[in-house]
Amino acid sequence: MINALRGMKDLTFEESERFMHIVATATTVAKKYGYEYIETPILEETKLFKRSVGESSDIVGKEMYQFMDKGDNDVCMRPEGTAGVVRSFVQAKLDRRQNEKFKFFYYGPMFRYERPQKGRLREFHQFGCESFGEASVYEDFTIITMIGDIFKELGIGYDLQINSLGCPECMPPYKENLIGFLTECKDELCEDCNRRIGTNPIRVLDCKNEKCQTLLTNSPKLMTNLCESCDRDFKKLTQLLDNAQTSYEVDTHLVRGLDYYSKTAFEFVSNEIGAQSAIAGGGRYDKLVEFLDGKPTPAVGFALGMERIMDLVQMPELEREGYYLGAMDEEAIDTLFPLASAKRATQKVSVEYAPKKLKAHLKNADKVNARYCAVIGEDEHKNGTIWVKDLVKKEEATISQSDF
Ligand code: HAM
Repeated sequence: MINALRGMKDLTFEESERFMHIVATATTVAKKYGYEYIETPILEETKLFKRSVGESSDIVGKEMYQFMDKGDNDVCMRPEGTAGVVRSFVQAKLDRRQNEKFKFFYYGPMFRYERPQKGRLREFHQFGCESFGEASVYEDFTIITMIGDIFKELGIGYDLQINSLGCPECMPPYKENLIGFLTECKDELCEDCNRRIGTNPIRVLDCKNEKCQTLLTNSPKLMTNLCESCDRDFKKLTQLLDNAQTSYEVDTHLVRGLDYYSKTAFEFVSNEIGAQSAIAGGGRYDKLVEFLDGKPTPAVGFALGMERIMDLVQMPELEREGYYLGAMDEEAIDTLFPLASAKRATQKVSVEYAPKKLKAHLKNADKVNARYCAVIGEDEHKNGTIWVKDLVKKEEATISQSDF
């Protein structure tokens, strides 16, 4: 038997309903905020992710579904959505329309070769939004508010964590400072952290090792070393969140696993789904468009993890809907089709093609959650009528086929 690959899942029945419900809810909210749908390829050149997500990130270093295609191109299944959207933005020359703002939303599969566990898949789905051309921190606040709206609509609780990752003015001197601190205590830091001092020292800050975290309590903090502009923006963001009575926690160790962020970074976490608790993450990435050969364009965005959110969403109980049509003998089946087509103009309709006893038809109507079970038996066929039962009101009637 051939099974789906490890860390990859089929979605059916109630699960796929929940999936569609999340997409529909997030889409409705995103459209209210002015976002338009963008679809980009799942397969991209590997160098796109190396340059954007960053060579030293775990995603690029260890987790990419990367291969040479038949034309000897080095390609990669996208591990996230932002890089492709930015590539598309630059390719379509939207970066040259400097006075315009562009807002895109997307959803679809992402691939990371991680160790599968609860909440962590190798193929997972994101819903994301990317806003281009808006440098104001009001946009960061608006995006955070939009995610809050999506979760409110879905009936999901969360904690919000925010941080500032500075900019090319204040990050490099801070990094030097941090490397100095880390080098001094390197013998006590874990192996991973030691490797990161040389490759990506900022990532040391969110090491999951308890001993490392204890050592890091005394590390220099970027929050107290931000340049004037980053400091002003971060203070404004917290003020906007305070005014909106949105609760949040400033987490100075929140660095995100992708290298393209500057200034605002945030994560939404849930305490109801175990260790893999981040349900959405994002931030500002003002340098990425330029990094991918576009004109400097400020940008901010986020993505939410659909599977993790599926674990949290309670679906409303489905109400009975539409019609189930069946016949009790072969001859009446053809009579069903025109009746079904006419009904389908306004209603959900299922048709059974095999003749069955009434009891079997009623059972089938139940299985498809139909509101009405309509059956043509021998008498009905002869008289040009159809028997209809309302399965909610438990009322039944025989009516003329022309009135059906
Ligand atoms: P990310 O934090 O890597 O950000 O992923 C966003 C969300 O995807 C996570 O919060 C999590 O819910 C979900 N996720 C990540 N990895 C997995 C996995 N292996 N299995 C299940 N769910 C997962 C990004 O990808 C950025 N592109 C977000 C962004 C958009 N930043 C700016 N714009």
